[in-house]
Amino acid sequence: MSHPIPATVPPGATVLPGHAGSAKDIRLQLRSWPEVEAYLARCRGVIVPLGSTEQHGPTGAIGTDALTAEAVALEVGRRTGVLVTPAQAFGMAEHHLGFAGTMSLQPTTLLAVLHDLVLSLARHGFERIYVINGHGGNIATARAAFAQAYGTAAARGLAGAERLRCRLANWFTAAAVMREARELYGDREGHHATPSEIALTLHLEPSLAAKQRPLPEAAPAGPIHGPEDFRRRHPDGRMGSDPYLASADHGARFLELAAAALSDDLAEFLGSDGSEGGAD
Ligand code: NI
Repeated sequence: MSHPIPATVPPGATVLPGHAGSAKDIRLQLRSWPEVEAYLARCRGVIVPLGSTEQHGPTGAIGTDALTAEAVALEVGRRTGVLVTPAQAFGMAEHHLGFAGTMSLQPTTLLAVLHDLVLSLARHGFERIYVINGHGGNIATARAAFAQAYGTAAARGLAGAERLRCRLANWFTAAAVMREARELYGDREGHHATPSEIALTLHLEPSLAAKQRPLPEAAPAGPIHGPEDFRRRHPDGRMGSDPYLASADHGARFLELAAAALSDDLAEFLGSDGSEGGAD
């Protein structure tokens, strides 16, 4: 089944005239409401960066997942001309709470936050909500939030309820990103505080290079149950990873690969009925 989406700009035509090429211009934070209203007449798509604020091993930044999600989102926005909302920097990180600095939302809280954000956007006429995610622990809850939002949009009788679609795009599982990580790091990519995500933070924030140092072999990834079990099994917070392999140059490459993959995926999402696909 396909719905007519006359106000959704087709792939290749989403760049706003006179506004391409600057991250500033595609940030919702820097737009006025009449500008957003005018944008909606041309494009019904919007990008929402979703991160997490959690430990990333003894040398990685607490903000890794939010920094990376926002950077990829802004680069995708620059390339496509699609507006980028402020990042939702707090995610579902309950299992990381055994480490100082982690700030987590419970699954029900994150579900409510994402639900409310989607409904806010849908009320104005946004019909394609593209969530660029930086944290695996958010995936199940984000999907549940989308299902809940569809139901609420219909129950509230929102004009675009039938056309509302949300898509979760995990930048770190884009095929080209995973391939590059495998080539650069092999098994030492691991599953948490990975060199690929740390590399991207080194590219974004050069000061983080001062934290880099060789680390002992990390405990391999495996099942965990809650924050105490996590810290017992993974005493320094890493899961099978060697973030010392990361470099800022690698990070620039990951940003390019992720932005290219997700820009293509977003163009398809805007031009389709949104019912299938996804970069994750
Ligand atoms: Ni992470």
